[in-house]
Amino acid sequence: MTLTLRPDARGIARAAGILRRGGLVAFPTETVYGLGGDARSDRAVARIFQAKGRPRFNPLIVHLPDLAAAEAAAVFDDRARRLAAAFWPGPLTLVLPLRPAAGLSPLVTAGLPSVAIRVPAHPAALALLRAFGGPLAAPSANPSGRVSPTRAAHVLAGLAGRIDAVLDAGPCAVGVESTILSLDGPACILRQGGLPQEALEACLGEPLATATAAATGAGDRPVAPGQLASHYATAAALRLNAAEVRPGEVWIGFGPGTGDAGLNLSPGGDMVEAAANLFHLLREADSRAGAGGIAVAPVPERGLGRAINDRLRRAAAPRPAAQARPATGER
Ligand code: TXA
Ligand code: MG
Repeated sequence: MTLTLRPDARGIARAAGILRRGGLVAFPTETVYGLGGDARSDRAVARIFQAKGRPRFNPLIVHLPDLAAAEAAAVFDDRARRLAAAFWPGPLTLVLPLRPAAGLSPLVTAGLPSVAIRVPAHPAALALLRAFGGPLAAPSANPSGRVSPTRAAHVLAGLAGRIDAVLDAGPCAVGVESTILSLDGPACILRQGGLPQEALEACLGEPLATATAAATGAGDRPVAPGQLASHYATAAALRLNAAEVRPGEVWIGFGPGTGDAGLNLSPGGDMVEAAANLFHLLREADSRAGAGGIAVAPVPERGLGRAINDRLRRAAAPRPAAQARPATGER
């Protein structure tokens, strides 16, 4: 049984109690819904991996309520402090040297000497973190490899019965996961996300490198360890940069004059709106699509468009056989 809780004082208190007992609570952030568990508890963190069906123990992001709590878990340098002051709370995750005394479960960091940390900009997430009083490990609250959830109903569609509760605070405003920046050495973007690369570069005053990992098949795209080329997968095949819709396809447009007959990420061509709509429209198109698949209009590769295109490319990537077609109702 998975409880649906309201993000009021009573719901937050119940959610915090579940977390203190080692349970799992999905909660809203400004990016996507996260699947939260006590980041200090091996058992709770192991349950996160189990509930998601993650194939490997990838490191998870640790969520904290403020910079002071973050500084107790990781070592901040001047760059990290400047970015935290500019963008926290917000859709930025920093990878920093871990403070071993922080007491985080080694499962959270996958045994690495670094830790990924963020302060989410969502009142319900911050209220939950304060009521719980500790660090929350939280990957996106979806079965591994599937489309990330931006509404409580998405969480339940994938994880009902496998987690204790979901805090329902409506749709997420940003709609794509946080940008991950490693400062464990030279600054380097590991994942494009809800904070545009351009904003980070303006704050740091230097152009940023993006990490690549040929081993994942991700080509020259940024990748954090454990990010698979095929991810965010829809059941239906996805055709990107489509100039027009073909017979039998479900169309996802972007901008004016596209997708009048189908779905549209943003009729006005607004990138913020497109990011917020992305995962919901992928799910909607997937539920309508048959053998003809889904066609998506081009999205410019700038600002939030980088994160949108990254998610679309991963959703369209060839996938491992076991992931090829989910069982009916899996999502
Ligand atoms: O917006 C978000 O970031 C959402 C919400 C719930 O906060 N969370 C999220 O978490 O996307 P998750 O677990 O799906 O993504 C974690 C990513 C993984 O790609 C992982 O490889 C990377 O962060 N990561 C975690 N720790 C790391 C570390 N020490 N070094 C490098 N990458 C790390
Ligand atoms: Mg995820």
